[in-house]
Amino acid sequence: MKKIAVLTSGGDAPGMNAAIRAVVRTGAQKGFEVYGVPLGYSGLIEGKLIPMGPRDVGGIIQKGGTILGSARCEEFKTEIGRKKALRALNGNGIEGLVVIGGNGSQTGSFFLSEMGFPVVGVASTIDNDLVGSDITIGVDTALNIALEAIDRLKVTGSSHQRAFLLEVMGRKCGYLALMAAIAGGAETVTLPEVDVDPEEIVEVLAKAYERGKSHAIVVVAEGAKYNATKLAEYFTEHHEEIGFALRVTILGHVQRGGSPSAQDRILGSRLGAGAVNCLEKGEYGVLVGWVNNALKTTPLKEVVGKKKPLDMELFELARILD
Ligand code: F6P
Repeated sequence: MKKIAVLTSGGDAPGMNAAIRAVVRTGAQKGFEVYGVPLGYSGLIEGKLIPMGPRDVGGIIQKGGTILGSARCEEFKTEIGRKKALRALNGNGIEGLVVIGGNGSQTGSFFLSEMGFPVVGVASTIDNDLVGSDITIGVDTALNIALEAIDRLKVTGSSHQRAFLLEVMGRKCGYLALMAAIAGGAETVTLPEVDVDPEEIVEVLAKAYERGKSHAIVVVAEGAKYNATKLAEYFTEHHEEIGFALRVTILGHVQRGGSPSAQDRILGSRLGAGAVNCLEKGEYGVLVGWVNNALKTTPLKEVVGKKKPLDMELFELARILD
């Protein structure tokens, strides 16, 4: 194998740049020519390739986002789009591809791999919903951003005796919300995996108020049955019962920006280098992830279309510690 390419796809995640850097530098060290594909699968379909050497990835490990750019590409979801991408790869003499991304991106990797192209995925998404990695690139940074938001909201909340509904990202996975709730000492949390009735939340807030708390935090996963906006509508009608005045903060994409934490830089470096080692060994059609404190490869067919289950013991812990 001589020529390999790397792309980032789907939602950007802090630590993606560390993974790109590791792919480029490990590849160069093994004597590969490495190319970056701008804008994920869209760039691949258009056959865009940028030669990348070790110096081209200098000074990026501390940067959030992805220097290659990313996209959610509808065309690649079609067979015609994928065939175009395959033609572009073969036409440019690329012999192996590293795809850094989450669920949707690795579904793309799987399709390419089924078409006979050597692909290796790198587990990267702030949602932490990907089977094949206990933790994915970007999660630690996103979690710490949510935590900082909680700490700040508690300060202003205490000044005004307010309760805050803090909505965090995570798509249909409650990992970020649950961990933020535990680490931030939130009063309660709602998750896509567990329906928590608004009445129950009203009760928790009312009890916190009666106990003399000066603020209260409800962490709301964006994919929960009642997101922050819906909950706020409900609470407006039950304001008297709650005691606290209520405010809503939707963290949204703020969670995806910012400089990657040490953990995400190290994870990105390990997984990126691991992916190149796989290509060198001829181990294709796999996702490189981090399982039981070690690098692990999982066949892409065991990854796609699945969602990692949430540890329900942690949900119980969050309820006990409120
Ligand atoms: O998958 C990462 C993620 O940030 C999700 O948590 C969120 O639901 C989604 O992407 C947002 O997508 P977009 O950046 O396309 O608005």
